[in-house]
Amino acid sequence: MFDLQRFIDDCKAAVQSDDPQGTVRGLMEAAFRDREGVRQVLADAAPAKDVAPLYADENLTVLRVFTPANFISPIHNHLMWVMIGILDGEEKNYLYRRTADGGLEVEREVVLTPETGIFSLRADAIHAIEIPPDRPLSGLHVYGGNILQRSSRSAWDPETMEEVPYRYERLMDFCKVLTRQRQAQAS
Ligand SMILES: [Fe+2]
Repeated sequence: MFDLQRFIDDCKAAVQSDDPQGTVRGLMEAAFRDREGVRQVLADAAPAKDVAPLYADENLTVLRVFTPANFISPIHNHLMWVMIGILDGEEKNYLYRRTADGGLEVEREVVLTPETGIFSLRADAIHAIEIPPDRPLSGLHVYGGNILQRSSRSAWDPETMEEVPYRYERLMDFCKVLTRQRQAQAS
């Protein structure tokens, strides 16, 4: 059975190792072989339907993630590596790269599901996610730093594509714009 405290302790050791990302990937892959066990333990550890930090220090964040159906995120970065494991649902990732003129272009699109395995984002990754309309997403994220306190992150304004400092209230405004844009496209 998945042991959350032991997983956190192993992640704390992993981020001090020579290969933090590879070691955390191995821990997540091992844990997700018993996905039902992980699901049950996380449901007990954090309120349902909530993004909940399970552990954070300056080198590590372990986050239980819940994202509602139909959610679209603005484009953003993290400035630290991330390992993503999906427990339920589906998450479409748009990965961007910077262009010579200072803009962004989509580099690739990846659909993540419980079956696609542990997915990693590099520390310099820029991405946006989209959750399909029929079901919410839940998962486990492990970050190579304290994502809850990281400053100097960026988000991109969906209307102007301007890079702006990442602030929670601004992100929520961007989400509303994106939702309106999608409704307009659908009608
Ligand atoms: Fe993200």
